[in-house]
Amino acid sequence: MKITKICCIGAGYVGGPTMAVIAQKCPHIQVTVVDLNKERIDAWNDTDTNNIPIYEPGLSTIVAEARGRNLFFSTNVEQAIDEAQIIFISVNTPTKTYGKGKGMAADLKYIELCARQIAKIAKDNKIVVEKSTLPVRTAEAIKSILDNTGNGVQFQILSNPEFLAEGTAVTDLLNPDRILIGGDESIEGQKAITSLVDVYSNWVSKDKILTTNVWSSELSKLTANAFLAQRISSINAMSELCEKTGANITEVADAIGMDSRIGSKFLKASVGFGGSCFQKDILNLVYIAKSYGLNEVADYWEQIIIMNDHQKKRFSNKIIQTLYNTVADKKITFLGWAFKKDTNDTRESAAIYVANDLISEQAKIAVYDPKVSLKKILADLDYLETRTSVENTNSLTSFDNPYEACKNAHAIAILTEWDEFKDYDWQKIYDSMQKPAFVFDGRNLLNSQQLKAIGFVYQAIGS
Ligand code: NAD
Ligand code: UDX
Repeated sequence: MKITKICCIGAGYVGGPTMAVIAQKCPHIQVTVVDLNKERIDAWNDTDTNNIPIYEPGLSTIVAEARGRNLFFSTNVEQAIDEAQIIFISVNTPTKTYGKGKGMAADLKYIELCARQIAKIAKDNKIVVEKSTLPVRTAEAIKSILDNTGNGVQFQILSNPEFLAEGTAVTDLLNPDRILIGGDESIEGQKAITSLVDVYSNWVSKDKILTTNVWSSELSKLTANAFLAQRISSINAMSELCEKTGANITEVADAIGMDSRIGSKFLKASVGFGGSCFQKDILNLVYIAKSYGLNEVADYWEQIIIMNDHQKKRFSNKIIQTLYNTVADKKITFLGWAFKKDTNDTRESAAIYVANDLISEQAKIAVYDPKVSLKKILADLDYLETRTSVENTNSLTSFDNPYEACKNAHAIAILTEWDEFKDYDWQKIYDSMQKPAFVFDGRNLLNSQQLKAIGFVYQAIGS
């Protein structure tokens, strides 16, 4: 089938950038991204593309090029479903906060809603693509809903998980390591796979497009995230041992990374991984393993989360202990709140948990992040429900200027590895702070020798 119309349900961190790149690379295909969230759609349609709701390097230029030509953002979900030949489902699949599987399983209510809506609207055959990260065998449930509640039209369900990382979404989408497409082994299934392969072939070479059965594709996404997060928990576990033994985690990472079997990427010790994916997907994997009675498999993967929680806690404890066992009424400045650099996303950011611990010890937190607003920061803290929002507002404030944020602080904590932090006038910052002036570098970002020479008491993860 020659594809000329695509729709994507969910205009979030995946749906927005992914569809923008498809539209840019396939001018012959009309791409409509729909969402129930009107505010988000309005922001995608903002005349100034610098105001689009997701910050990703390079994204606003692509949106400026394609929007209004063959890229559209709309709240009219029904019309977009009706017109499209391929429907991507790219809605959120957060960890369940209620009922069976609470705190572990993926909440599939948004996925099911999409399936029911597609079934209701579709009047001709459609290819439905799982872009969201889903538990293995979810396609079975989607198919059952589509086949039993629909208008008798034929649906093919493909799994096409997204591997982009935030902060590098555009380059990841333009030059993916691979595109993974899982589909049914029937003739119709294979035809559907070919239709989607043809879309990606507009800019991705065929040897990078991998096709599998649906279950392998679904499970590969969870596996990839589990392996990636495992590397971070592994290096973070070693960082604690480094701190006790005089070894340096950066040197250890360099040394092991030169082994081509290990590889050098994804070995940066940190205050702990954040983001909307790793924890959610591993918990989901643990839940799936348990539901099949595979308790050893579940325990093995759960340890990654346990280690990550320990790393965040360890960082806040270290700040408290070093500041003479009390941070009450002390100003502690956070440089960075986003879960990594080059994104405005704060979901599961380590900063949230470290701030929460320090506020419980009555510290006063000052935050500077180049892309995150105070409103978002306070919402993140309120979400934890540790204290009232008034108490959070009284304990934390944010600044638009990093030098103001650091003035009179007892300590600075680096929570995000924004490049600009390296270029600050650290002497000026030192002069404006309480003495002794401490820096707790949760990202191993700054030049330790330079900071120590200025007079800072400098402590980085893993050294
Ligand atoms: P998001 O929360 O940023 O976006 C999801 C959007 O879907 C929201 O705007 C929401 O309003 C909308 N939505 C929910 N239900 C809807 C419905 N029934 N109709 C219309 N719109 C609806 O989430 P995200 O970060 O883009 O993640 C989406 C999926 O992609 C998740 O399964 C996630 O695990 C996966 N994923 C995310 C990343 C990432 O880096 N964020 C990377 C790979 C995969
Ligand atoms: C991740 C996966 O990388 C991506 O393939 C998937 O599609 C979505 O989940 P993302 O969470 O956006 O992407 O960013 P990633 O670069 O993986 O970083 C996740 C967290 O790990 C961040 O908090 C980051 O700072 C941290 N991290 C990453 C480390 O602490 N050390 C590292 O070496 C790498």
